[in-house]
Formats: sequence, C-alpha cells, structure tokens
Amino acid sequence: MRNDSELLDHILNHIDNATTDMGDEEWNEPVEHYNSQIRFDAERRLMRRLPIPFCPVAALPGPGSYVARNSAGVPIVVVRDLDGTVRAFRNACRHRGMQLADGAGCTKIFRCNYHGWAYRLDGQLEYVPHEHGFPELDKASSGLVPVHSVDVQGGLVFVTQDEPVGLGALESLPTLLSDDQVIFQTEEKVDDINWKLTAEGTLEGYHIKPTHPESFFPYGYDNLNVVEMQGPNSRVCYPFRRIEKLRDAPRDNLSLDRMVTLVNRIFPVTSVTRLAQHYGLSFAEPESPTRTRYFNYRMTLPTADGGAPSEEALARAKKDVAFLSDTGDREDAKVVSDIQAAIGSGANTHYRFGRFESAIGHLHKNLALYLARLDNAEAEVIKLVN
Ligand code: FES
Ligand SMILES: [Fe+2]
Repeated sequence: MRNDSELLDHILNHIDNATTDMGDEEWNEPVEHYNSQIRFDAERRLMRRLPIPFCPVAALPGPGSYVARNSAGVPIVVVRDLDGTVRAFRNACRHRGMQLADGAGCTKIFRCNYHGWAYRLDGQLEYVPHEHGFPELDKASSGLVPVHSVDVQGGLVFVTQDEPVGLGALESLPTLLSDDQVIFQTEEKVDDINWKLTAEGTLEGYHIKPTHPESFFPYGYDNLNVVEMQGPNSRVCYPFRRIEKLRDAPRDNLSLDRMVTLVNRIFPVTSVTRLAQHYGLSFAEPESPTRTRYFNYRMTLPTADGGAPSEEALARAKKDVAFLSDTGDREDAKVVSDIQAAIGSGANTHYRFGRFESAIGHLHKNLALYLARLDNAEAEVIKLVN
C-alpha cells in the first residue's frame, strides 16, 4: 500500500491528467445475491467460519470490559479478562441458555439473571445456587463455550466462531488504528437494506458529483480515487481539493491527515474510515436479505504526540460527525434504500460495476471465492458423515 507521500504524487498525477484509478475489467453481480434467502444463509455461515471484526479494541479498555452482540446471528460476548487477555464466548448460560451479557459495560463476573449461575471472566463456572440440585453437574466442563479463536490486530478484535475456511481479512490487514484514538460516540441502528448495498456506496467515487452535489463534491473531485487492495480487503482514497496546496511540500514525513478520506473495507462486512476530523467504524450484522443492524463507533484522530486528544480536537470531531449526518450520510442512505425498493422490479438480472468501481468487484470476487471454499468444506463434512 502506498505511503502518504506516494499517495500524494499519485493523486496529483490524476488531478493533472483528469484520470482516476481503473480496474482491469467490469464486474457483474447477480441481483438475486441481494435478495435470495439461500445466498444470505450461505453468507452468514461463511461469516461464522472467518475472522470477522467484532469491535474496536478500544471498546475493551480494562479488565472486565465487555461487548455483547450478535455476530452472524450468534450471540457472542467479548471480554477482557483479569490478565488483560481478550476472550470471546457464546453468550449463553450453560444451565438453560439465558444470555449473560447485553450491550457493553464492565463487570467482575457474568451472573445469569435467570437462576444466578455465575461465570468468571475466563469463562469458568464459579457458582451455582443450591448446587445440590445438580448432582451430576461437572462444573469444570460447564464453563462458557469459547469461540474457535480471537485475534486482536490493526486495532480491531476479530472473532472466528468455527473452524475457519481461510485467513479472510487477516490475510493482509493494514494497521488501521493507533492506541491514542478514543471512542467518543457509539450507535446501533437497523436499516431495511441488504448489507452489500451499503458497502458498495462507500467504495467508489463515481457517484460523488451526482449524489452529493452540494455536500461532498464542492470539497472533492468528480470520479477521482485511488483504489488499493490488501488480500480481500481494500482501501479507497477520496482526496479533498485542498490537497493541491501540498504540491510543493517536502515529501519526507509528509502526512495526508485532513487531506483525504480513506475508506478501508475489512472483508467482508466492516469499514474503518479515516475522515477529515475523525474515524468512523461500522460493523454490519446482516439479519436478513433485506435487513442489516449496524454497530457504529466514532473515534478521534491519532494525536501528533500519542497523548490524549485535546478538547478542540474532540469538538472538531463532533462537528465533522454532525456535518456528515446532516448531508452525505443522508444522501447515501436515500440512494441505497431506493435501490432496495426496486430490487424486485425485474429490470436487472445483474448490477454492473464499471472499471471505476473495482473495489466493489474485489469485494464480490472475494466473497464468491470464500463461498466456494465454504461449499467445499461443507461438502467434505457431508462426505465424512455418509
Ligand atoms: S439459565 Fe442461567 S442460571 Fe438458569
Ligand atoms: Fe456517497
């Protein structure tokens, strides 16, 4: 991936020649991949067998911090234990399956609200009220059930629920976040949308002028992007016009902070976006072919000295969020919901992604590749069973 100084020269070259990055070919994606239950179910099964970002590691600041939510339809709780290790369990009591944690918080112990069984942060079953009623219970083997694996990389916590079919996003993950970035806003929302439509809207700048004529376009360019791939992930750069002021800047240690928007798509359902004054993180949880829950985090920019963000930086970050929610985000949401509403119109058998939209083709291509791996892995199991 280019560093900031290489990125600047690449962008200036595009500005001077009125060009943009272009992929090798167009991509056609069947419309039924957006509304078929069979396809949706396969995508969710795949999500259980890949490392999937669950939350920023900053959401687990100290021992006992936890985040509980569904991932690929399975209730999961991620917690930092007393030793500082990040662990992930299926969020279900070993007595009769009640969920043990909800949302985010900090706790010393997970105590079930139903009958009071209590589990340590490392998952061990610690306490059973009136234990003599369970003469056959082996407490040592009745702890919370861990997922296959947890990885903390690039500032994100990845959860792999079951035997993985590949490295997924971890095949080539860029460094996304630094330790000094602070979460200043969280949001959970549900949209009546297929998750891929929202993802696609963030991965090309071909739409900037017609869709965002008064919000983004005056600060940016029409169809001018740098598109880079890292394994199945991608990074799309949207320069601001003020970047031209850097034309003669010394290239040593050059930073493009506040000069570009960088959208990192972390395969397949997560985005980490560096905006002008803050970072936006979005964790999609597909709930049906036409409904997606989003767990969104807003984080401050890295500071120059690695210390805490200043009051002014925080105020600028919040202003940035307010601007986006009033303008561009709303414009994008209108587009995707209109597409969703027309999905059954019969007008298209495929959606067509041009050479400017290569990061979208890359997402679909990798999804197809991993779904084929999942197919093979599931066929193996069927063979073994028979
Ligand atoms: S379901 Fe948890 S204690 Fe009974
Ligand atoms: Fe947009």
